[in-house]
Amino acid sequence: MASILVALVVAALSIKKGKASPTANTRSCVEIEVPVSIDTTAIQWLQPRVDSNIDAVDWVTYQTTRTSPNITQSMIGQITVKKTFKINGQLCVPQKSSAKYEILQLATHGGGFDKRYWDADIKPKEYSYVEAALAEGYSIFTYDRLGTGRSDKPDAYDIIQLNVQVEILRQLTSIARSGKLVSASKKLSGSLDDRLVKYKPSKIVHVGHSIGSILSVGLVTNYPTESDGLIATGFLPTNIPLPSLNIATWGFEFARENSPGLFKDHGSGFIVQATKSNVQISFLKKGTFEPTLLDYAWKIRQPIAVSEFLSLATAFGTEGAKFKGPVQFVIGENDYGSCGGDCNGTYDLDMIKQTYPVAKIVGVHIQPGTGHGLTLSMNATAGYKASFDFLQSSGL
Ligand SMILES: *[C@@H]1O[C@H](CO)[C@@H](O)[C@H](O)[C@H]1NC(C)=O
Ligand SMILES: *[C@@H]1O[C@H](CO)[C@@H](O)[C@H](O)[C@H]1NC(C)=O
Ligand SMILES: *[C@@H]1O[C@H](CO)[C@@H](O)[C@H](O)[C@H]1NC(C)=O
Repeated sequence: MASILVALVVAALSIKKGKASPTANTRSCVEIEVPVSIDTTAIQWLQPRVDSNIDAVDWVTYQTTRTSPNITQSMIGQITVKKTFKINGQLCVPQKSSAKYEILQLATHGGGFDKRYWDADIKPKEYSYVEAALAEGYSIFTYDRLGTGRSDKPDAYDIIQLNVQVEILRQLTSIARSGKLVSASKKLSGSLDDRLVKYKPSKIVHVGHSIGSILSVGLVTNYPTESDGLIATGFLPTNIPLPSLNIATWGFEFARENSPGLFKDHGSGFIVQATKSNVQISFLKKGTFEPTLLDYAWKIRQPIAVSEFLSLATAFGTEGAKFKGPVQFVIGENDYGSCGGDCNGTYDLDMIKQTYPVAKIVGVHIQPGTGHGLTLSMNATAGYKASFDFLQSSGL
C-alpha cells in the first residue's frame, strides 16, 4: 500500500474562438462542460484539516508520524455521494479523415496538474500528446479531474476521492460512447464542426498518467466491458520497496495560501506543491528536460484534495481480472516516485500478466532518459509512438 501511495504521487452559439488549443488551426477541438451525475460512496477519513500552510505541513507530518493511525484505522466511516458535477473537457478530432477517427482516446491526467498536462503549448509537435494522437489519426478527449482546472471543486475531505473519480470516468465514457458528449454539454469555446457535435466513437481507449492511470485501472477493474484498451503511463506495478520516499517529498502547502490568485476557488483541504523545485523532483530528471518545460509544468500546477491522496491507498486489489482489452504500462526510466529513480529491473512481466489474465496483450514500455512527467521530457513523442504501435498491434 505504501508503495502505491508513493507511486502516484507519484451555449451552443456563443462560442468564442481559439482558446481551447495551442494549435487551433491544425485541428478541430471544442471545449465543453459536461454534466456528470454519479451515485457512489466515499470514505470518511480521520485526518487533520488543512486551512493554512502550517496545517499542510502538519497534515504531512501526521500522515508520516510513526505512531499515527495506519491507513485502515484512518477509515472511520462511509459517505454517500449522489451528485451532479460539471466536468470541463476538450474533444478533438483529426483534421483529415483517418482510419482511427472512430477510436477515441479518453485521457485522464495525474496529480499536480490538469488536462493541460496532455497538451503542452511549448513546442506542441515535440511534447503535446493531444497533437501526437491527432497526427496518428485518433480522436482524443481530455478533461480536468474533479477538483482541478475548470471542473467543479467540491469538498476536499468527503467528496474528492478515488471512487468518485472512477465513477466520473465511467460516466464520461458512457456519455462519449452514446455520441452525446458535445450535445449533452455546455459548449465553451472552439469549433462547432459537425464531426465534433455528432462524434460517436466505435472504440474507447483509456489513457492515464499517474493518478489518472490508477483511475483508469479502476475503470477496467470495476467495469471491464466499458473500455477497449488501457495505456497506463507514469505507473508501473513494481516489486521493489521504496524506502526513501514518502509524502514529504512532494513539498505540499495549502493551495490558497501558496497562490491566492491561481487557487482562489480551492478551499479547505486542497494542497499544492510549494515550489518549482518540488515539481522538478517529482516529475523531471536533470538532463532529460528542457527548462522551459519545467516552467510550463510550474505554470499548469494544480492542487490535490487531501482525501483523494489518502484514498489512493485503497486502489489496489486483483486489478483487471476480467479485462479483455490490451494493457500497456509506460514508465520513465528515471521515474523517482514510482521506482526510486531507476525503473530497470523493478517489475516482473509474468506477475503483471497474472493480474490481467484475459487481457489481449500486456506490455511494459520503459521510456529511456525520462522522469515521471513523460509529456514534459525530451524525446516524448518517441514514447507516444511506442504506445500507438502497441495499440496498432492489437487492432486499435
Ligand atoms: C493497522 O493497524 C491495525 C491495528 O494495529 C492492524 O490490525 C492492521 O493490520 C494495520 N493495517 C495496516 C494496513 O497496516
Ligand atoms: C537501465 O538499463 C539500460 C540498459 O541496460 C542502461 O543503459 C541504463 O543506464 C539503465 N538506467 C539506469 C537509470 O541505471
Ligand atoms: C527515444 O525514445 C525511443 C522510444 O522509446 C527510444 O527507442 C530511443 O532510444 C529514445 N532516444 C533517446 C535519445 O533516448
